[in-house]
Amino acid sequence: MNIKSTNKVILAIETSCDETAASVCINGKIYSNVIFQQEDHSNLGGVVPEIASRAHLKKINQVVSNSLEQANISITDVDALAIANGPGLMGSLLVGSGFAKGLASAHSIPMLPVDHLSAHIYAHFIDAPIPELPFACLLVSGGHTFIFEMNEKYQLSLIGKTIDDAAGEALDKCAKLMKLPYPGGPEIDRLSKMGNPNAFVFSKPKVADYNYSFSGLKTAFLNLIRNQEQKNPNFIEENLFDLCASIQKTIVDYLIEVFKKYLKYSQIRNIGISGGVAANSMLREAIANLGEQVDANFFIPDLSYCTDNAAMIAKAGDMQFDQLKTTEPNFEPYAKSPWKK
Ligand code: KG4
Ligand code: ZN
Repeated sequence: MNIKSTNKVILAIETSCDETAASVCINGKIYSNVIFQQEDHSNLGGVVPEIASRAHLKKINQVVSNSLEQANISITDVDALAIANGPGLMGSLLVGSGFAKGLASAHSIPMLPVDHLSAHIYAHFIDAPIPELPFACLLVSGGHTFIFEMNEKYQLSLIGKTIDDAAGEALDKCAKLMKLPYPGGPEIDRLSKMGNPNAFVFSKPKVADYNYSFSGLKTAFLNLIRNQEQKNPNFIEENLFDLCASIQKTIVDYLIEVFKKYLKYSQIRNIGISGGVAANSMLREAIANLGEQVDANFFIPDLSYCTDNAAMIAKAGDMQFDQLKTTEPNFEPYAKSPWKK
């Protein structure tokens, strides 16, 4: 491609957890979105930080090269490097930012630090239809559960959050109790389709304001399994589909219930979901139903932009290009969260 100097070309790198990812965004449009999903953790019950860092180091060169190649550009065309700078696993973040710093120094490219969580929300602005503002978004991932509000200046305010585990973490832990591979969320999604969501009932936690709690649900799930296994050692195997469907329904209903309470209060009528758990088929249906119930426009990102990816980092870098402080060598992973509390 013949890149003209008037174009805004962003190369993004994402290495917060167990995906090594790179993306190119030119004038706001995504031209490549390369993701290498580390398989090393699936039988280990969760992401092992040191294994993740080493796997990033092994793959990052190839992932970034593929991303540039797919966008048909070279590193010398890049105007800024957008880098996920936290939250995430420190070792993994350092691999991404260290690699970027090398590129930045060698080619004199400025670096844009991008907050990973805000980027999950910016994923909504990659493809049409994009949300009008103000926009209320339920951000549900493996490490976080937040309700955010984005105002007309694209600034984020934190409305509510989990006081303990995240929704994705609860799904992953329940999956682990059923001996399903990591990450358990997609497995629960898949197996739930064959189960009865009302087979087992778990009471939903009550937390003040627009906050969540998931640790009690995980304990209730554990207790059910322990008690039932004493009577029937094959309890999990014989009830796997119903267990998955029931815990998934409880978590989805609970996520929607609190979000709905906030929508009733705020009267915001542009709503969405983002983060890895936004890939969940039941939650995707539930947000559409909620939109109809409260007469709101609902927005659901493409599946490829829900779980961790670099396109969302590229889009966030592109949209915040002027505000983000470009740093030449003093890049600092895990900087302070940029939203209002
Ligand atoms: O956003 P993400 O990729 O990484 C973090 O920033 O944490 O989210 C990962 C989480 C994991 O807990 C995973 O189990 C969950 O997203 N997840 C799902 C689905 N796909 C990924 N949970 C439920 N259903 C899915 N289809
Ligand atoms: Zn994430």
